[in-house]
Amino acid sequence: MQVQNRFLLLVMVGGAALAVISLSLQFLNLIPTTPTVEERLLQLQPPDGFVRSAVGKSRKRVFPVLHTEEPSPLSEAYGYCNTPNRTEQAWEGHSPADYKLLSVQVMIRHGDRYPLYSIPKTKRPAIDCTLSTSRRPSHPLLKAFISHMGKGGGANWESPLSSVPRVPNHSVCESGELTQTGVVQHLRNGQLLHHAYKQHRLLPSDWSPRQLWVETTGKSRTVQSGLALLYGFLPQFNWTGLVVRHQWNTLFCSSSCDCPARNRYLEEEQRRQYRLRVANTQLERTYVDMARTLGLPTRQLRAANPIDSLLCHLCHNLSFPCAAASDGGGCLTVAQFAVIRQQQLDDEVDRRRVGLYRKYAVLAMYPYLNRTATRMERVAKGRGGEEAFVLSSAHDVTVAPLLSALGLEEARFPRFAARMVFELWRSPPVARRAAKGGKARSREGEAFIRVLYNGEDVTFHTSFCRTHGRPPSQPLCPLTNFLSFVRRDMFRVVGATSYRDACYKLPV
Ligand SMILES: *[C@@H]1O[C@H](CO)[C@@H](O)[C@H](O)[C@H]1NC(C)=O
Ligand SMILES: *[C@@H]1O[C@H](CO)[C@@H](O)[C@H](O)[C@H]1NC(C)=O
Ligand SMILES: *[C@@H]1O[C@H](CO)[C@@H](O)[C@H](O)[C@H]1NC(C)=O
Ligand SMILES: *[C@@H]1O[C@H](CO)[C@@H](O)[C@H](O)[C@H]1NC(C)=O
Ligand SMILES: *[C@@H]1O[C@H](CO)[C@@H](O)[C@H](O)[C@H]1NC(C)=O
Repeated sequence: MQVQNRFLLLVMVGGAALAVISLSLQFLNLIPTTPTVEERLLQLQPPDGFVRSAVGKSRKRVFPVLHTEEPSPLSEAYGYCNTPNRTEQAWEGHSPADYKLLSVQVMIRHGDRYPLYSIPKTKRPAIDCTLSTSRRPSHPLLKAFISHMGKGGGANWESPLSSVPRVPNHSVCESGELTQTGVVQHLRNGQLLHHAYKQHRLLPSDWSPRQLWVETTGKSRTVQSGLALLYGFLPQFNWTGLVVRHQWNTLFCSSSCDCPARNRYLEEEQRRQYRLRVANTQLERTYVDMARTLGLPTRQLRAANPIDSLLCHLCHNLSFPCAAASDGGGCLTVAQFAVIRQQQLDDEVDRRRVGLYRKYAVLAMYPYLNRTATRMERVAKGRGGEEAFVLSSAHDVTVAPLLSALGLEEARFPRFAARMVFELWRSPPVARRAAKGGKARSREGEAFIRVLYNGEDVTFHTSFCRTHGRPPSQPLCPLTNFLSFVRRDMFRVVGATSYRDACYKLPV
């Protein structure tokens, strides 16, 4: 194979080329089963890796979602698990007095899932993916949720979603299946939003299909995560009238997925990632040690992407896998896990420094942001009956570029059940003095946007409303900032002024 071909893999999906590189492509022949497109997509970054705090000496800005000290790879990993065992703060629904909430658009990552990969010669983690109120973690709404999901036939499911099970239900989890932890995480997210928005009367009790928009990829874990959040938000929601839409591409780009330049940035980004990884001798030694422990060729272990499975063990408090007694019975260790994890964290820092991922992200998320902006503008213009609540149920490979495109590059890599929220607000009407002989009139209030990540208000950290440490001049960020960012300014990082320009620009 040519070097290029060994390095890159083009996956053709529905006519659109998604350039994807495998972390372990040189060992492709050793991968036991052909991964699905999504599994390959997951490899476009360290699967389930996440961002380390970059609040270094030279940075004054303190990002609220970040810890200010360098966290250990292990404490980061626990944050990533998002174990639902504590109350969470949620700043959704907060505004100055008299502001009116017009609409809310939410993008989530699915909840805790079973690994996509398994480590050869070891037992797969023993996790039960059926739902039971007697298993922990549980939730007060779980019982009613299970029963409500049994009645979902009445909804309008866009093909192919109608054949996707509405709850996880395998006593031995299938690869990538949502766990009960994942369901509980999203019931909690939904309930948080329910409380945050209930006094704002976002949706009438007899909401119409136009007011509630739900979209998801075709994976059972995103479908089920979306339903759990929706149930927490609107318990006992009316199935009749619910339309669940399908997004075939994990970038939620609908019919605007073609963008050759995006694929080129991704390929370059993957080359950067590969170079960084092979330069890390400690990482290489660790893989060799782990492979020896299990009696596997190093290449085969690396191809099995062990971090994915080890994270699952960690999140579920299971001891790390061991070799069979006939192979010496040795076990993988937390220290080995920490080395791989640390490399992923270093990779995130390098990724930000180099900036290729940001360019990829801007092009990857434009179609979603364009729809978000268009909806907000429509709602702000008061053409009634529009979407008041929009839920997009997605993956890490969706939420990570969304954060980057918005300039929230210091945010943590999306943990299980991460949530990104866009709120649209209107300020109170301003009374105007009457013109001579005329009647006193009042001017409509103006439209504002708030952006929240995992319950934290990050509005003033986005590229379009950054305040650089100054107190914001307005209590909220004007919607117009967001609109001109999406329609023009965000393409500046790729030296263009529009999506078309940027996508079809020839490489220089
Ligand atoms: C929640 O679970 C995590 C991971 O198991 C643990 O580190 C943390 O201490 C727990 N928190 C509480 C409040 O129990
Ligand atoms: C789960 O599967 C079992 C056996 O197939 C079935 O009896 C049960 O009704 C299912 N539960 C749900 C909630 O779908
Ligand atoms: C559910 O919605 C349908 C149509 O949108 C309506 O006819 C029906 O009465 C509603 N059911 C309940 C229980 O509100
Ligand atoms: C994790 O497992 C250990 C033993 O396997 C047990 O002692 C500990 O209580 C468990 N921790 C949690 C948070 O469940
Ligand atoms: C962006 O949104 C506008 C509507 O505001 C639409 O006409 C246009 O086709 C969208 N562009 C893309 C590439 O999605």
